[in-house]
Amino acid sequence: MGARRRGRAAGPRADCRRSRARSANGARCARTAVGRLRLGRVPAPRRRRAVPPSARPRRRAGAGADVIARLVLNGRPREVEVRPNQTLLELLRDTLGIFDVKEGCDEGVCGVCTVLLDGRPVSSCLVLAAGLRGRAVVTLRGLERNGGLHPLQEAFVRHGAVQCGFCTPGMLLTTLAFLEREPRPDREAIRAALEGNLCRCTGYTKIVDAVEAYVRGELGHD
Ligand code: FES
Ligand code: FES
Repeated sequence: MGARRRGRAAGPRADCRRSRARSANGARCARTAVGRLRLGRVPAPRRRRAVPPSARPRRRAGAGADVIARLVLNGRPREVEVRPNQTLLELLRDTLGIFDVKEGCDEGVCGVCTVLLDGRPVSSCLVLAAGLRGRAVVTLRGLERNGGLHPLQEAFVRHGAVQCGFCTPGMLLTTLAFLEREPRPDREAIRAALEGNLCRCTGYTKIVDAVEAYVRGELGHD
């Protein structure tokens, strides 16, 4: 009997059993794995699913009671109860339903969440709502002129500077704040001003074209 068992243990499987016995981490027998590959039994690749920002888990509410955030939103005074660690982006989108402010990286890199805070462009994902203390916040809606588009928006449309449109609100607000400081910029200055706003569609050329057209007053605005 003993001789028969030893005989059956010979060959690749026996090698495998021996290596398993020695292996502390239980790694699979290399010879068996090679055999499977030759037979075409390659393990199925792991599937990855993209997780949209809205489905990502929210940051946990911090300890402490809710507080009142005071702001002037697109010209209208607001008082809203917020968590102490709630960002301005979360306040605008999740609490107030202002979806013209977009959510991207959530960490101050992409610029799609840009709003004007007292006239200056900021990433709203990096601003705590509780610290606003009555400051003026302008989103894309605040650019509306008598129910119509702002001339800079019209320039973007006319010059094909909008594709998916995800970056557009941040681009427009950043541009307008920049033109307040520098009304007659050249192309390089426009590019430099928009470097914190990422666009995955347009390649930026048409955006700069649109801003130049607006600066030239091509749409008959002041
Ligand atoms: S979402 Fe705020 S910078 Fe990207
Ligand atoms: S138009 Fe799509 S990200 Fe800019």
